[in-house]
Amino acid sequence: MNFALPPACDAVLLDEPSIQTRVAELGEQIAEDFSGKDLRLITVLKGGLFFLADLCRCIDLPLSLDFLAVSPYLPGQGGVVRMTKDLSDDVAGADVVLVEDVVDTGLTVNYVLSLLKGHGPASLSVCTLLDKPSRRIADVPIDYRGFTLPDRFVVGYGLDLGGRYRNLPFIGTLRDEDVLR
Ligand code: IMP
Ligand code: MG
Repeated sequence: MNFALPPACDAVLLDEPSIQTRVAELGEQIAEDFSGKDLRLITVLKGGLFFLADLCRCIDLPLSLDFLAVSPYLPGQGGVVRMTKDLSDDVAGADVVLVEDVVDTGLTVNYVLSLLKGHGPASLSVCTLLDKPSRRIADVPIDYRGFTLPDRFVVGYGLDLGGRYRNLPFIGTLRDEDVLR
C-alpha cells in the first residue's frame, strides 16, 4: 500500500523497507539467542502491537505472545504508571522478551520490567524498535534496538498522536511539535 504522508507530518524518518529490514534482523538475532527456550514475547498495548506482529513472524521458533496495558504517565505525577490489563499467561520460569515500540524517558519500560520481574521469569530482555536516549529519566537495559532516534516526536508503525497514525506503514516526524511541549 502506498500511504500518503499525512499533513501533520513533515517527513518520513523511516520508510517501510528500512523498518522491515531491521525488524527481520532483530527477529533473526532473537531466534539465534533463544533457540530451545520457552520464549514469550510480551508487549504493551497498543503501540507495540504492530512491531510485535512483524517481529514474531521473523522469529523461526516456537513462541507465545502476551499483552499488558498500562495507563500513560502524566507529567507532574512523578512517573507513576498504572497497569490496566495484566498478562493472560503465567511467565514463571519462561524466557521473556518485552517488545516495545519506543523507549523515551524509560519510565514505562522501567515500570513494566519491575512488574514482570515479580512474576519470576527465567530471563527478561528488552527489545525496542526505537530508542530516544536524549530524554531518558529511568536507566533501562536494552538488549535489542531497532533504531536510535534524536529527540523528535514520531508517528506511524504503532506510534500515535491522540490515537491516530498507528496504521501508517512508515514512521514520520510531526510537523509542529510545539503542541506537545
Ligand atoms: P516512556 O517515556 O519511555 O515511558 O514512553 C512512554 C510512551 O510515550 C511510549 O510507550 C509511547 O506511547 C509514548 N511516546 C514516546 N515517544 C513517542 C513518540 O515519538 N511518538 C509517539 N509516542 C511516543
Ligand atoms: Mg502512545
